[in-house]
Amino acid sequence: MKCRICSGNVRKFFDLGPQPISDAFLLPAARENEFLYRLQVGVCESCMMVQQAEEIPRQKMFHADYPYRSSGSALMRQHFEAVARRFLATELSGRDPFIVEIGSNDGVMLKTISEAGIRHLGVDPSGGAAEASAESGVRVQVDFFDETTAGTILARDGQADVIYSANTVSHISYLDSVFRGVDKLLAEDGVFVIEDRYLGDILEQTAFDQIYDEHFYLFSVRSVQALVQLHGLELSDIEHLPVHGGTIRYTISRPGRRVIGPEVGRLRASEPVDFSVFDDFARRAADIRDELVTLLTRLREEGRRVVGYGATAKSATILNYCGIGPDLIPYICDSTPGKQGRLTPGSHIPVLAPESFADPYPDYALLFAWNHAEEIMAKEQAFRQHGGQWIMYVPGVHIV
Ligand code: SAH
Ligand code: TMP
Ligand code: ZN
Repeated sequence: MKCRICSGNVRKFFDLGPQPISDAFLLPAARENEFLYRLQVGVCESCMMVQQAEEIPRQKMFHADYPYRSSGSALMRQHFEAVARRFLATELSGRDPFIVEIGSNDGVMLKTISEAGIRHLGVDPSGGAAEASAESGVRVQVDFFDETTAGTILARDGQADVIYSANTVSHISYLDSVFRGVDKLLAEDGVFVIEDRYLGDILEQTAFDQIYDEHFYLFSVRSVQALVQLHGLELSDIEHLPVHGGTIRYTISRPGRRVIGPEVGRLRASEPVDFSVFDDFARRAADIRDELVTLLTRLREEGRRVVGYGATAKSATILNYCGIGPDLIPYICDSTPGKQGRLTPGSHIPVLAPESFADPYPDYALLFAWNHAEEIMAKEQAFRQHGGQWIMYVPGVHIV
């Protein structure tokens, strides 16, 4: 297997078996002939980019019915508002600035930019999410960002002072085309700012559910620096943030344009270069699977009711890798309208609105949206008051 970034040799370290499209929530009639593929990940021996073995056609994942909505979390709404405010005070404070967002989803970040009257464009192939953002005054091009799209934007709108992308660049296997597009579109003194889940945190917490179709790459400082250099750009700064279980914000600019922040070298130096770290991770993931299945089986035998909370894309990995179905988890509550009334991909567990959680409360709730634990536990305090307990599996199986 060859590296999708640098053509180096990729060493496979984890096989998660047959998996569905993680956000393809099914109508009950559509459970036959579901698309499955074999999810395997490896690490490039040369640039250290962690990546998947198989590429899923992009239209299979991102289309008009893609259900995920970024605005579903109050914490993430605050996070993106803060991002927008910071750009408004810095890179977007000059004369007639322009910002492009790759993967703008429902406009959660660009809403604040639009309200400030700043020229902007979101690019996102998921038509339903784009419609939702148009309602909040955000301008969107329903498209996959790549070199061709960048050319169209450049011809129509001119160069961008900021190209921003959260939780999207890691989803794109064809990064060569994306970086050629960024190189065309980015102003001489502009910045390309990427936020994505951090490999270091995933390894440390054994958060193997962060591996699913959409997360084609798992980024580290080392691998992003190699990627950026390969395309004639420079990684000038990083910030380690707590969102989504551990994220890094990478600031990328043209060489020599920015002072390189000290965090870049510091975090890079802490990253693994020994491949045994990846093999250990895969072993710990298998142990977590065994522990979780044993716990759920025991609770069922004891007559306890366990339901799921948060039909995340991450949950597809857990459910399908562990072989958990409706016999162990009869339903999962989730606030996303496009997931409710459907079945989870592969595992075929019904997704119900959060109102069903209290009707009546279960004995235990398995929290698949563990990255939103604080927000969800605060919202569902009555569950604990009724004696309910949360089952967590990151960084290992435990009950709180
Ligand atoms: N930025 C938001 C959304 C992340 S979900 C957030 O952080 O919450 C990933 C989004 O990327 C989806 O809305 C998907 O449609 C979009 N996407 C996938 N491939 C893309 C591409 N090539 N160009 C632009 N957007 C893309
Ligand atoms: P994410 O981890 O990919 O952001 O997905 C979070 C999922 O959890 C999403 O489907 C929405 C759901 N959710 C709730 O059901 N209730 C909540 O309070 C929050 C924050 C998320
Ligand atoms: Zn490589």
